[in-house]
Amino acid sequence: MPNQPPRFPGFPGLPALPKLPSVDAIISEVDKALKTLAATPVAQRANPAGQNLPAGQLSDAEKEQVIGLMRVNHVGEICAQALYQAQALASKDPEKKALFDHAAKEEADHLAWTQERLDQLGARPSLLNPFWYGGAFALGFVAGTLGDKVSLGFMAETERQVEKHLNDHLGRLPAGDQQSRAILEQMRQDEIEHGQTAIEQGANNLPMPVKLAMTAMSKVMTTLAQKI
Ligand SMILES: [Fe+2]
Ligand SMILES: [Fe+2]
Repeated sequence: MPNQPPRFPGFPGLPALPKLPSVDAIISEVDKALKTLAATPVAQRANPAGQNLPAGQLSDAEKEQVIGLMRVNHVGEICAQALYQAQALASKDPEKKALFDHAAKEEADHLAWTQERLDQLGARPSLLNPFWYGGAFALGFVAGTLGDKVSLGFMAETERQVEKHLNDHLGRLPAGDQQSRAILEQMRQDEIEHGQTAIEQGANNLPMPVKLAMTAMSKVMTTLAQKI
């Protein structure tokens, strides 16, 4: 890294350490985390499962299945908030910061819609949400410190995996649950657009071992979140 300043004066061979966030930035991130985890999310767009869809009838078994799926999707949106907030914090480029902030705002609609569907079903979100948020924030921050192209690559791969996972959920929803289907279909469309934006902005293609590690982590998360 010939252009980086030395980590310590007198030791020019060592690369500079990543700049740590300021105290103000840390307080702001804690505030965002508390709002994501504890406040009722408010969507900017109308819920796709709006007034015009029939309520539908679900058997007890179908209801349990939908609750498990929507809890997983809600966890995914908690993680999306944490990832994009951390990537925005870690980026040094104001334009990329704005891009990650904008993505987090769009994901906030998904968080609100999945929360509303869980409320309608009389179900709670995952009890492990603070843990998911913390883990995703750490991952997003590490990706962000590796540079914007890697961070965008992480965004593109995350969105690709979420799209795949939503396709799977759309195939598993009971035929009578048009509300959840409408929400997941709109989310899928948005996630495809987020992934395309990341690629257009210069995302690196991540190495296969990293992609496989991300798949393995998401498998653990979806398995646990369905129950807990
Ligand atoms: Fe989302
Ligand atoms: Fe997304």
